[in-house]
Amino acid sequence: MPADPATPPISGPERTTVPEATTAPQATTATEAPTVSEATTTHERATASQVTAAAGSDPGTPPLPEARELPSGLFIRRARTPDVKAIRGLVEPLAEARILVAKDPVNYFESLQEFRLVVDRSGPHEVVVGCAALHVLWDDLAEARTVATHPDYRGRGIGRSLMEQILADARDIGVSRVFCLTFETRFFQSLGFEEISGTPVSPEVYVELLHSHDEGTAEFLDLARVKPNTLGNSRMLKHL
Ligand SMILES: CC(C)(COP(=O)(O)OP(=O)(O)OC[C@H]1O[C@@H](n2cnc3c(N)ncnc32)[C@H](O)[C@@H]1OP(=O)(O)O)[C@@H](O)C(=O)NCCC(=O)NCCS
Repeated sequence: MPADPATPPISGPERTTVPEATTAPQATTATEAPTVSEATTTHERATASQVTAAAGSDPGTPPLPEARELPSGLFIRRARTPDVKAIRGLVEPLAEARILVAKDPVNYFESLQEFRLVVDRSGPHEVVVGCAALHVLWDDLAEARTVATHPDYRGRGIGRSLMEQILADARDIGVSRVFCLTFETRFFQSLGFEEISGTPVSPEVYVELLHSHDEGTAEFLDLARVKPNTLGNSRMLKHL
């Protein structure tokens, strides 16, 4: 897939966690310091277990979350608060292009535990190169959302790894169906999703879901006020 011209390249001499131009002005808040790159400077080229062990050995270094190495040499791990800036750097160009749902900064913190990240630890600083979130909608149903791979890293299995993790997370917590709203139908078909029409819940559950203030849930419900945001998207569902 061609690189998204709206997203500046992630590589380059600085190779910081978030390209500056992708960060909205309001991102620069005290709550987002330190950055992931600052937190990981001392762990260059470490394996997952080495990283975990090393993190505990230096009291000045915030501990890194447990990470699993992928066959590509990248790592997958849960998100933590210093990652929000990098997640926003990945998502905001896609939200501006109306490919992903736009969120306020607070929403990333509120949903932080839903996120899985793929990170590149091959350089001097860890770089977040992909993200995906699992948002529970109802007792048997969740949505895969905010699935994004940095344009420079696409086609390397990152999206697949993130989705496989998200689907495993869904099974773990008792979800049996995962929904997504997407332009990337072939990608999701390759993961076993099928296109559907309508909103796959009973009228009773639909009414309950109307109480949500979540924009993604409004899009799931296909509410009139969010229809302009979802034009051209496909509704897809996977039974686990
Ligand atoms: C969709 C997206 C996350 C895929 O990320 P990726 O890291 O490039 O995906 P992968 O490399 O893991 O590809 C997985 C599979 O999907 C296929 N694939 C990926 N993107 C594809 C595309 N645009 N069209 C067709 N097939 C695609 C790959 O060939 C691969 O197939 P394989 O495993 O059989 O070889 C990425 O294109 C992206 O960030 N898109 C913008 C955001 C978006 O639309 N997200 C989805 C809605 S939440």
